[in-house]
Amino acid sequence: MSMTDSNIETIHQNIHQRQSIGQLVEPAPNSEQLEKAVQAALTAPDHHRLKPTRFVIVTPEQRAAFGEQLANALADLGETDSSQLDRVKQHPFRAPMLVLALTTIQDHPKVPHFEQILSTGAAIQNFLLSLQAQGFASMWRSGAVVESNWLKQQLGLKEQDLISGIIYVGTAAKAIPPRAEIDSQAFMKTWQAT
Ligand SMILES: Cc1cc2nc3c(=O)[nH]c(=O)nc-3n(C[C@H](O)[C@H](O)[C@H](O)COP(=O)(O)O)c2cc1C
Repeated sequence: MSMTDSNIETIHQNIHQRQSIGQLVEPAPNSEQLEKAVQAALTAPDHHRLKPTRFVIVTPEQRAAFGEQLANALADLGETDSSQLDRVKQHPFRAPMLVLALTTIQDHPKVPHFEQILSTGAAIQNFLLSLQAQGFASMWRSGAVVESNWLKQQLGLKEQDLISGIIYVGTAAKAIPPRAEIDSQAFMKTWQAT
């Protein structure tokens, strides 16, 4: 599909201006908007179409219960400081909606684990960009809790699977300055034969 110049510009603006927003408020996407973003995510490159990525939505009403799970996960990792455990219980309230992006790893002769993990990374970026295009903002977070085997088990994962992201989703609480220009030359060069 070829696009008009203005469509191409709009798409690149959406990519370039995506930024992580820590302060997120209502509204969160409705189910139709969320479905659009998940559809975009699930088009990510995926070697042998193993479909490693799963999304789990934590709705606004579920945030307190999910916060309790995060505290249990931290305790599972050995944290005993009650102020740290209380702090993590509040984390889900940083946004109206959380979306967990999971990677279910398969042992496959042609597709190493890292390719499956990268596929989830690509899916997450598509997800963030779709939300951004629909007027929402987000922040991809992780934290110590993603290492908790107890939390993985609660999410139906095996130990080798990954909680690849805890994505905070909502609407930006305030306007933020546009992303600065990127000096791509510092990050690319033409290959030279040795
Ligand atoms: C896998 C992954 C995990 C991340 N976890 C966190 C996190 O726990 N806390 C945090 O502040 N930023 C985290 N970040 C970084 C932010 O998502 C964000 O990319 C960074 O702040 C740069 O901002 P930008 O997205 O506006 O360029 C993580 C990024 C990735 C790719």
